[in-house]
Amino acid sequence: MYTMNALQTENLSKQYRSGAFKKYNIPALDKVSLEVGEGEIFGLLGPNGAGKTTFIKIMLSIVHATSGKAEIFGQSIKIRSVRELCGYLPENHRYPQFLHGLDTLLFFGRLNGLSESELRPRAQTLLETVGLVQWAKVKTKKYSKGMLQRLGLAQALMNNPKLLFLDEPTDGVDPVGRKEIRDLLIGLKSQGTTIFLNSHLLSEVELISDRVAILNKGKVIRTGTVAEITSQKLSYTIQLSSHLPLALEERFKSSLPAFSYTDNRLDISLNDKTDLNPVIDALRTAGIGIDGMTQQKASLEDYFIKLVQGENNK
Ligand SMILES: Nc1ncnc2c1ncn2[C@@H]1O[C@H](COP(=O)(O)OP(=O)(O)OP(=O)(O)O)[C@@H](O)[C@H]1O
Ligand SMILES: [Mg+2]
Repeated sequence: MYTMNALQTENLSKQYRSGAFKKYNIPALDKVSLEVGEGEIFGLLGPNGAGKTTFIKIMLSIVHATSGKAEIFGQSIKIRSVRELCGYLPENHRYPQFLHGLDTLLFFGRLNGLSESELRPRAQTLLETVGLVQWAKVKTKKYSKGMLQRLGLAQALMNNPKLLFLDEPTDGVDPVGRKEIRDLLIGLKSQGTTIFLNSHLLSEVELISDRVAILNKGKVIRTGTVAEITSQKLSYTIQLSSHLPLALEERFKSSLPAFSYTDNRLDISLNDKTDLNPVIDALRTAGIGIDGMTQQKASLEDYFIKLVQGENNK
């Protein structure tokens, strides 16, 4: 079955010009090619200044690409009506503090061109979705950071977008607030919304993204599922009940990709999970008990740090 991509770019590049006579070229994106399938949650990761915000701004025609091609649901982003399919939560957004939550949504809904009859029911439903009904008539000045982000999310959903762009949606939000936002996004996904999110909070992205891309200095250096990206060699720590015989130590040393042994503790790496069984069998045959075993899995964060440091050292 052919499914259309929600977003697709080909060699998208952007150089900002700045300084007197615009003589300085600042490369922000360098030949970025990405595909995001319909209904996916896609995470764009990268350190500060990598070009994440620039990417979203180009997709929404807030900033124009220097070269390359970009499509949303199969249509060029140059077609104005494409923007009607999109919702956008900008990074560090500010809402007028004198407005209350409901009015803020009505205001943005009008900017989106919603009719007066659609506006109120839509705003009311979204306030429920993001859990702010009780706060509808309270000025946003009194909102916490988490509440402001949830209001921002409701604002981004006013035009019922098929593709939602979120720039650092959980920035500055505490763990409880982050969980609430995550649950909201998972709910939206289940209704078929495609979500494109920028983040440097890797543990967050890891929890909800179907696929991620890692951006560094304007270049995509990896794309894949979180599992694909973090599936390095599997590492285990095995606590033994007694000393490991020398013969067995020699055998493990020569057959395993990584091996170390101290104080009845074995640290090993395997190429495949099924390679664990022969190790256990060998231990049991030698009459050695196993007191405990833990698996060490690289987190996206570990991987990301190594990758970006490696690239920057090139
Ligand atoms: N309007 C602009 N004029 C000139 N340079 C800019 C402009 N906007 C961004 N840049 C530069 O482009 C590069 C990418 O910036 P961008 O904001 O896209 O990064 P980012 O990945 O979103 O970073 P962060 O994690 O800090 O939000 C940076 O070097 C930045 O200084
Ligand atoms: Mg940014």
